[in-house]
Order: sequence, then C-alpha cells, then structure tokens
Amino acid sequence: MILYALDIAKKIKDKSKKEIEKKKLKILLSVILIGDNYASKVYIKNKKIACDYVGIDFKLFKLDENISQEKLLNLINNLNLDDKITGILVQLPLPDHIDKTIIMQNIDPKKDVDGFNPFNIGALILEKPKLIPCTALGILELIKFYNIKISGTYCAVLGRSIDVGKPVAALMLNANSTVAVCHSKTENLIEITRKSDIIISSIGKAKFIKKDFIKRNSVLIDVGINRDENNKLCGDIDFDSCIEKAHSISPVPKGVGAMTIAMLINNCIKAKLIQLNIIE
Ligand code: GUN
Repeated sequence: MILYALDIAKKIKDKSKKEIEKKKLKILLSVILIGDNYASKVYIKNKKIACDYVGIDFKLFKLDENISQEKLLNLINNLNLDDKITGILVQLPLPDHIDKTIIMQNIDPKKDVDGFNPFNIGALILEKPKLIPCTALGILELIKFYNIKISGTYCAVLGRSIDVGKPVAALMLNANSTVAVCHSKTENLIEITRKSDIIISSIGKAKFIKKDFIKRNSVLIDVGINRDENNKLCGDIDFDSCIEKAHSISPVPKGVGAMTIAMLINNCIKAKLIQLNIIE
C-alpha cells in the first residue's frame, strides 16, 4: 500500500478552514526567512498557499544572510509582544553564526507554531503536549489515518534531529511503541531495522533503505527529500525495491511533506485558542 497524503492533508485543511470561519478566528502567522536558501523559499511559498486557502494572514520577514543574532532576537521579541501576531516561525536552516537553540528559546511558547521551544518540547516529553513539531505530528496523523497499529510495535527512528527524529520518537513512545532512535554512530543498524514493525527515516540519504534492511510487512515512513542519480526527487527509502516486501510506504513527494503543512495550520489555530485561553 502507498500512504499518499495529499487528499488527507486537503481534508485536514478543509476542516481547519471551516473552524476558522465558524469561530471567526483572526490568525496572523509571521515567518522569518534569513538569507536566500532555495528550498526554504519553496517551503515558505507552500506555507503561504496553505494559509491563503484556510484564511490565515501571512507576513514574511526577509532578512539579510548576515543579520546579527541580536537583531534577529530583537525582531522575535517585537513579534512576541505584538498582540496581532498569532504565530512565529523562523525558517530553518539558519546561517552558521546564529544559534538555533537560542532563537527557539526566545520564541514565546504560545506563539511557537513549530513546537521547537524547550517548553513545548518538554511538554511533549512529559506527555502533556501543547504545540507539537509539525512533521512529527503529521507522521502520526498519517499512520493513524491508515489505521496502522502503533501500540506494542517496535519502531526504528532514523535521524535524531530536533525538528523530526526526537519529537517523532517521543510521539511514538507516548503512543506505546518501543522506539529505537538510530543515527550516524549506530552500530549494526540493519539488525535494528530488520526487527522493526515501523521505520521512520529522516536521514537525507537517497534510497538508503533497501529491501534487505526491512522486515516483511513493515510500515515505512519516508521523511527524506533527496535527489537521485537522475536528479529526480526521492526519499531515504528505495521505494521500488521495498514496495513488494513492506506493508506500506509513504511516497516522496506526495507523502509526509503535505502533512507537515496541514499540521502547521492546525498549530496556528491551536496557538490562537491557547492565546484566547480557550484551551491550555
Ligand atoms: N525547514 C524545513 N522544515 C522546517 C520546519 O518544519 N520548520 C522550520 N521552521 N523550518 C523548516
């Protein structure tokens, strides 16, 4: 089975659009782009299209590649204090002279629609989640939509980034999966992946996971966005070799990426409801 996400993401966005209209929510998402990264510009364009679709206002701050950390923190602080701003998203990656952790620490947790602020990461670990990182949340929604069982499974998470690997591992653990978080120093990776009912990969290595890496009937979630030898978009999973053996695979493109944006919209609504003291 192929775990397509476009239709699911559209349904989620339609539901969000209705909620925004019904509750008359005035939501403004501010996005900060530093420098001129091509991929970042594509992501931001797609986020804006989704915001326009559901009725969320969108404000882009384009900053020079060489902006100082202090000036960036100043802007974030102004956005934190501005009642009109619902969400603050600093597009990653950041230039080397800017400390990602310090930036994330300084975004008001109630406006942190990426869910990267330590308060929100802590709430997730404590199983009292508030704003949850969008890709991790999108993966769980995708798995649940296809009625795939999580509780009692063995799951291998490949990659330990703060935006995908760590939060998705926490969500899977909270959903009662037994989780192995693997990374570049993991020895005998294949022994872990071959025992896993679910593999979630975000290592960014084109077609890295082959048929011999996986258990028969396993569920493969591909978060990688890479280019293959013909410059075609592909994921971390070698789709053609794995599709016969796996129970299901999320494709690249048309997979997890679409869910990430739908979850960003959900997080903007959630942030607004938190700010209005309607939810905690
Ligand atoms: N760059 C790639 N994906 C993301 C994301 O989900 N959030 C942010 N802030 N930057 C990204």
